[in-house]
Amino acid sequence: MDRLSESFGEREVTAAERETLIRGVFRRVARRYDLMNDLMSFGIHRIWKRTLAWAVDPRPDQVLVDLAGGTGDVAHKLAGQGRRVIVVDPSDAMMRVGRETRDHRIRWVAGTAEALPLPDASADALTIAFGIRNVTSLDAALADILRVLKPGGRFFCLEFSRPLGALRPVYEQYNRWVIPRLGAAIARDPEAYQYLIESIRRFPDQEAFKGILEAAGFQGVRYRNVSFGIACIHIATRP
Ligand SMILES: C[S@@+](CC[C@H](N)C(=O)[O-])C[C@H]1O[C@@H](n2cnc3c(N)ncnc32)[C@H](O)[C@@H]1O
Repeated sequence: MDRLSESFGEREVTAAERETLIRGVFRRVARRYDLMNDLMSFGIHRIWKRTLAWAVDPRPDQVLVDLAGGTGDVAHKLAGQGRRVIVVDPSDAMMRVGRETRDHRIRWVAGTAEALPLPDASADALTIAFGIRNVTSLDAALADILRVLKPGGRFFCLEFSRPLGALRPVYEQYNRWVIPRLGAAIARDPEAYQYLIESIRRFPDQEAFKGILEAAGFQGVRYRNVSFGIACIHIATRP
């Protein structure tokens, strides 16, 4: 069984059930998703995504893919200067919000990380922000990301990670007590935000995820912590 497919919240579920449940989470929270991000992170997710866009630092003519792009928050930061940004996401509800509110240069494509609806060697860079822990098969997703990147193309993954030292217990208490209550009050969906916390807790830490990327076949894997490791940007290259 794949590393990320074995549970949903407290319940053990099959990969197919997990996929259906995750689709439901994002369909339900789509309209309040961006607001919730601002409230949960005190707006800091904007700095993390801006840092991600700076790291990508794309040239004007490059083809960029923002996988699990949701409402297009990252794609919006990458678009401009004639660059084509393709958002790929399985959630129509999330992309509908994006189409209504974001940059018109973004192209919206329905699809999953495990079966990207894009040609081989077609992307100069592929980003994924807070999406990799939602995929049902991490191995299949990483293989397809490699397939879609051009040789020398770069993969950028922004994800929650393990905060350093003394910050960790405070962060864990915040996740445990505050996030589900915010989810109930604002998104009116505590279960969705309970899933969020559980999926963060289960996701591999900085070094472990670096090892997973190397084992999948990426080269030059490195990472940069943001906000003392609350989140982390892994950068890797297709050989
Ligand atoms: C937490 S949101 C992140 C959205 C956006 N990247 C951001 O940072 O604001 C996670 C996104 O992953 C998408 N997702 C869920 N399962 C996926 C899969 N198997 N492949 C690609 N995206 C998936 C969801 O539909 C959702 O839009």
